[in-house]
Amino acid sequence: MAIIIKTEKELELMREAGVCMSKVHSFVETLIKPGISTYDLDQEIEAYIRSLGCIPTEKGYEGYPASICASVNNVVVHGIPRKDIILKEGDIISVDITLAKNGYQSDACRTLPVGKVSEEAERLMRVTKESFFKATQQAYVGNHLFDISAAMDEYVIKNGYSTVRDLTGHGIGKDMHEDPMVPCYKQKRRGPKLVHGMTICIEPMVNQGTWQLYYSNDDENWTLETADGRLSSHYENTIAITNEGPEILTLTEGEEIPEFFKNDLHINKHML
Ligand code: MF3
Ligand code: CO
Ligand code: CO
Repeated sequence: MAIIIKTEKELELMREAGVCMSKVHSFVETLIKPGISTYDLDQEIEAYIRSLGCIPTEKGYEGYPASICASVNNVVVHGIPRKDIILKEGDIISVDITLAKNGYQSDACRTLPVGKVSEEAERLMRVTKESFFKATQQAYVGNHLFDISAAMDEYVIKNGYSTVRDLTGHGIGKDMHEDPMVPCYKQKRRGPKLVHGMTICIEPMVNQGTWQLYYSNDDENWTLETADGRLSSHYENTIAITNEGPEILTLTEGEEIPEFFKNDLHINKHML
């Protein structure tokens, strides 16, 4: 396998898919409240994705049974929506969604508070999101792929947390997962050079405690939890590497951007 560099036409299609994703995550924000089950979230979000003329591509992916991953508190990723998982005040939930529009994929995740959450949970979500922007600040043509991983990991460690090692970000395009892998932790080598037309998902998965995971035995063997039972947070956008800088394709409307990233901001112009 090799990294698939996108043409200008393909970049346009990736941007269009990104605009849909942005709308979907704005919709997700309106749903998250105490009392809703992750099953109902999945049903509502799937219907909304389809109403935009998009396909929820997680459904059926390697047998995955739902249209979203809904991972609550100590669940790191791939939480399967269930009727008996009901959100309650103080929980944090990551909603990770992949969709396709006109044959091109978009992948983004947000971790959101359910009502009022602890200061510690707030800080974990903030640092996770900031680590995405620290990482993306390295996503310039001429830099190397693992500069992204190192910046993410350093920021997370500096703040007293750990990054997950068993899972990574990835290239994206016609397929949800393309080369290259985009690790969340520092690598020994620098990795491939970044060039105009690469589209990748940068997705810090950040644990309060150890990076080690517990592979729970749910029915389908999907759900990954923290080994120590502490909280985990996840934040992901699809980005394009361009000669103008890193273009974030899946920002949510009105989303707050860290001050330190303001000069690096090149957003999907279709969102304006
Ligand atoms: N959206 C996930 C990612 O960030 C993939 C979900 S796995 C699936 O790569 F099985 F749910 F599709
Ligand atoms: Co994702
Ligand atoms: Co992803």
